[in-house]
Amino acid sequence: AEDHYHDFVIQATPVKRLCHTRSTFTVNGQFPGPTVLVRNGDSLVVKVVNQAKYNITLHWHGVRQLRNGWADGPSYVTQCPIQPGGTYTYRFTIQGQEGTLWWHAHNSWLRATVYGALIILPKEHSTYPFATPKREFPVILGEWWNSNPIDVIRQALKTGAAPNSSDALTINAQPGDLFKCSSPETTVFPVGPGETILLRFINAAMLTELFVSIADHQMTVVAVDASYTKPFTTSVILIGPGQTTDLLIQTNQPAGRYYIAAHAYQSGPPNTPFDNTTTTAIITYNNQITLAKPKLPVLPAYNDTATVAAFTAGLKSPSPVKIPGPVNENLFFTVGLGLFNCPPRKTCSGPNRTRFTASMNNYSFVTPTRQSLLQAAQLGIPGVFTTDFPASPPVKFDYTGNNISRSLYQPIRATKLYPLKYGSVVQLVMQGTNIYASEQHPMHIHGYDFYVLATGKGNFDAKKDTAKFNFVDPPLRNTIAVPVKGWAAIRFVADNPGVWFVHCHIDSHLTWGLAMAFLVENGVGKLQSTIPPPLDLPKC
Ligand code: C2O
Repeated sequence: AEDHYHDFVIQATPVKRLCHTRSTFTVNGQFPGPTVLVRNGDSLVVKVVNQAKYNITLHWHGVRQLRNGWADGPSYVTQCPIQPGGTYTYRFTIQGQEGTLWWHAHNSWLRATVYGALIILPKEHSTYPFATPKREFPVILGEWWNSNPIDVIRQALKTGAAPNSSDALTINAQPGDLFKCSSPETTVFPVGPGETILLRFINAAMLTELFVSIADHQMTVVAVDASYTKPFTTSVILIGPGQTTDLLIQTNQPAGRYYIAAHAYQSGPPNTPFDNTTTTAIITYNNQITLAKPKLPVLPAYNDTATVAAFTAGLKSPSPVKIPGPVNENLFFTVGLGLFNCPPRKTCSGPNRTRFTASMNNYSFVTPTRQSLLQAAQLGIPGVFTTDFPASPPVKFDYTGNNISRSLYQPIRATKLYPLKYGSVVQLVMQGTNIYASEQHPMHIHGYDFYVLATGKGNFDAKKDTAKFNFVDPPLRNTIAVPVKGWAAIRFVADNPGVWFVHCHIDSHLTWGLAMAFLVENGVGKLQSTIPPPLDLPKC
């Protein structure tokens, strides 16, 4: 195993997209940021130097960080942010994970541009569980705003409305041929004929779940969220914010140029505004320089829920797995948006002059500002959080009904954690309430991978729906999309002590409070991590 050292300088860099130049936060001036390439078993030492004028933290999305929450990164959850002029070094080891993960800023909306790929090759002296690809490329999906994304969310919070949707979707930070002033920079993947190519898709978008297709090429999915899957061939994939998908293509078509294209999956009603653009990159055989336009694939309709269901059902573990059980913690969390009444003498521009909010089990998460949750737990600092997050919603109702009482979308603001005993088996059903939303909620759990036992439509019905659970070969993920007006059931063992953030990876929803955290004890009856904080851990 090797140690890899990186210096990441966060800085403001002029970036030109869609005919405009604006100052953009980057790492080392690169956009997307540097690709970090390691093997399973290697260690990383990443020194972050903050030369931006905002606080920042970096999160290593999907890295288990066993007993090492100090390197996880969500601001005020596992660390205080790195202040302007400050530095912090993230030190961690990749233990047992292979495939594609990624890293991104984890405070305010800095992650709109501060992100990059984290590629984990098989451990030394071992190979992929599939044909060795001739070439491989990271394919990072994102969004571009002509204005500063931090101003976009600030404006939304001021008025209570949804943030403006992005001005372009992007692939490796380029909108592609279908946008003005973008054609010459369109991302190109050079290939040869008769090759197997590994494409490592990452959805780094802030708001948009995406369909992706490639003209004339079938895709064989071989991993999601850095866990291998049973190879599954499809003409379209769906990838939610936070998720990754590794897939193989065969370059078995006539020499030429073929588009990879992505656009939104947005199901309704009611529909909120979304970025309805299409981003493209080009697969070019033999460096073909030709004036002929590349071929565009056919993408599903924006609201093609049937395609989503078929894709989701195709994801399985490569072979039967041992599902953890029996269940010690049977949890049921609602996830959804809500609307706050407009405070007196304010103007609110949310639906019917309200303000958007979001919650889990009717608690809208309040991020602390004086101390991180992990440090408060480690040092026993009182008053930062409480441990009474409920195991099920305080009020039960028809979560998917259209006529939901207004009181149910007036959540309570609080910083509540749910305590888990070390080693307990957790089953968690997340129920979408979709009072006001037309997108799935990609729910991410830090510090863990979990088995996705099933997803389904309507109100979760324990008797009927448990029968549909896949106890044989469910996929292992770190981010699962809870269907619109539906639910997702997951299972994991609480074997990683610390404070672990659970949240929707649609960033507006996270900003509005669609989050909570697990507090996992260390196995000796204490609610804390087991290693002391690093000496350079930033102070609040
Ligand atoms: Cu990729 Cu807490 O997020």
